[in-house]
Amino acid sequence: MTPEEEKKALDSWQISAQYWDKYRVLIAQMFTPLTSGLVEEARIGVGQKVLDIGGGSGEPSLTISCIVGPTGSVTYTDPVAGMVETAQVEASRRGLTNLHFRQCSADNLPFADRLFDVAVGRLSAMFFVDPVKAVREALRVIAENGYVSFVVWGPKEANPFFSAVTDVMDRFVQVPRQDPDAPETFRFAAPGKLVGILEKADAKSVIERELNFEIEAPISFEQFWQLRTEMSGTLREKMAKLAPDQLPTVKQAVADGARKYFVRGTMNFPAQALIVSGRKLARIAN
Ligand SMILES: C[S@@+](CC[C@H](N)C(=O)[O-])C[C@H]1O[C@@H](n2cnc3c(N)ncnc32)[C@H](O)[C@@H]1O
Repeated sequence: MTPEEEKKALDSWQISAQYWDKYRVLIAQMFTPLTSGLVEEARIGVGQKVLDIGGGSGEPSLTISCIVGPTGSVTYTDPVAGMVETAQVEASRRGLTNLHFRQCSADNLPFADRLFDVAVGRLSAMFFVDPVKAVREALRVIAENGYVSFVVWGPKEANPFFSAVTDVMDRFVQVPRQDPDAPETFRFAAPGKLVGILEKADAKSVIERELNFEIEAPISFEQFWQLRTEMSGTLREKMAKLAPDQLPTVKQAVADGARKYFVRGTMNFPAQALIVSGRKLARIAN
């Protein structure tokens, strides 16, 4: 990733921040199983010091802050100012006092060695500039034997929440062939790929768990369309390339294809994520 590409990606997340804030209630609802999976895999409990990497509009930090309670703490990080700001406003609104905020990228964490018990990232690892460096950083700042856990999306074919829109859009907009290692939603969808990154970063006992769940919310297709096309930088970019008269055609084709996921006022998409976890090696005493 060149510095220009990195800047472009962060600028896009900066625009996305307002929409991730706008839809925070729905996001919390739709992706709760991902947070529960992370909490379980990283063995998060009362009194722990947790690092959240790429916390976006605040999850999983906000949920974990209640789990660790007043004797524990959560440090939220994200490289995008707008994301940090909205997460911080929400934490204050909820009166959470064990939650701390730092604006930083995953591959350069401004924390001392072994400061945290565990580190987690929900749907952020696929956007890390240098994933091996980022996982090494996560391992550096956690205690020996502590867990790192990242949840990422499984294959596009198992995630119609995304493909229902992008497959149609890609028939209308020329998409240049993408580098499979470029930061994007499905970068770590192939089983074993993120496992390889954790192993390369020297995590031990690395395991991958497939999480099949449902993305559910009480919204109509119209609301889904608005949410998807606002929240995703990639979709915003593709929509800008459509001729004005193409947009209604694309939207109608998406609506036709996605009809079966909207029944009696409720959206319900099958979904698949991968949770990849590992532990920090203990130092051997001489
Ligand atoms: C899909 S959002 C997920 C946000 C949140 N964790 C959630 O699940 O709702 C991805 C997040 O990764 C962040 N991100 C992008 N590049 C990053 C990097 N190099 N290091 C850490 N986070 C990054 C973005 O700013 C964004 O907030």
